[in-house]
Amino acid sequence: MGSSVPRRRFLQAAAAAVWVPTSVKGFTPDDLDPMTQDDVLQADVSKWELDTPALLVDLDAMESNLARMQSVVSSNGIASRPHAKTHKCPQVARLQIQSGSVGICTAKVSEAEVMLEHGIENVLMTTSNVTPFKIERAMGLRRWHSGFVQATDTPENARDLSDAAVAAGVTADVVVDVDPGGRRTGITPGRPALELAQLVDTLPGLRLAGMLCYDGGSQHVAGFAARRTQTLERLAPAVETCESMRRAGLNTEIFSGGGTGTYNIDHENAGLTDIQVGSYVFMDAQYLAIGGESDDEVYSDFQPSLTILTTVLNSQYEGRATTDAGAKSCTINRPWPIVKGETGMSYTSGSDEFGSLRYEDPSRIYRTGDKLELIVSHCDPVVNLYDRMYAVRGDRVEAIWRIAARGMSA
Ligand SMILES: Cc1ncc(COP(=O)(O)O)c(C=O)c1O
Repeated sequence: MGSSVPRRRFLQAAAAAVWVPTSVKGFTPDDLDPMTQDDVLQADVSKWELDTPALLVDLDAMESNLARMQSVVSSNGIASRPHAKTHKCPQVARLQIQSGSVGICTAKVSEAEVMLEHGIENVLMTTSNVTPFKIERAMGLRRWHSGFVQATDTPENARDLSDAAVAAGVTADVVVDVDPGGRRTGITPGRPALELAQLVDTLPGLRLAGMLCYDGGSQHVAGFAARRTQTLERLAPAVETCESMRRAGLNTEIFSGGGTGTYNIDHENAGLTDIQVGSYVFMDAQYLAIGGESDDEVYSDFQPSLTILTTVLNSQYEGRATTDAGAKSCTINRPWPIVKGETGMSYTSGSDEFGSLRYEDPSRIYRTGDKLELIVSHCDPVVNLYDRMYAVRGDRVEAIWRIAARGMSA
């Protein structure tokens, strides 16, 4: 996805100089936990002193992403409902709500449980629950949390949800999931979606809250104009569906969709109320490569805030170095992670425990014990590999956040 040239240009323009000392103490979360109060670290610890591999989030970059998203959606007259599948971390969800988001989304009922338990009140689960076990859990959530909304995409499932809601003594809020053409999830727009909405509206255990339509297939289309054309075309049938629901007197208070790649396009879909943006908070190499409205080569609307700190294990072969962050720390998503602050290097995380660095034109020679930071390839699966993330400002570790929904894949 994309060549290394634009990524290099991005790094030249945006990356700060990287200080890479030789290895020091190597603090682990267990060392630091006793020094934290309400997740905030009370000691003066540099990120370079952490044991590796470690997941870092740069607070200045993340806060700038939150602020930018909020300013764009509010000037476009819509809201953000960020997808917590990206960060799986209640602290990040809380910052999103504080920045103005109307709630969050989750992909799994287990993620929803974690977020609701941690006090995040408005949770839209974007995947349907289809098995009795998960439906029961979802109804259990609805019993205690009035802000929990779930998706459905078939009449059979809507009836199952209604039966379970009645059995649990609750009325469950439901949105109809409409397919933008990817045929992954969602019901066909038009009459099938309208009829499903009408059914939900009449079933005794359910309350129709609106609809959703997530166009995942357009998010990474390279080039702003091509992305805009594609997503508006693909959303048009859902926009018509929403309008026919409204004309039929059905509730359309939620029409959720969109993502990081289309965040500044989605408001052009009439009736859309909010965008389910996920990656914008962290960014990654996949998104950097797609280009933005004002910059054809690099998607620089948001700053890469999520990095993996890694240590050089072997530097004895010319032009190469081996680090301690391989597939189990970085995943094997492509494009490969980007070495932050370096333009003449390529990084491969293909083998399980080792990352391979090739030097083309380094600003410095990396020696055994040196540390460096990697901009992640694809933020969502990388986060799911770690129990904590270190929240850093400049070089200082400010807080340690538990990735509480890590591994919540069911
Ligand atoms: C249903 C749904 N909504 C929203 C998102 C967020 O997308 P992005 O990370 O591109 O903003 C995703 C990501 O896969 C998704 O599956």
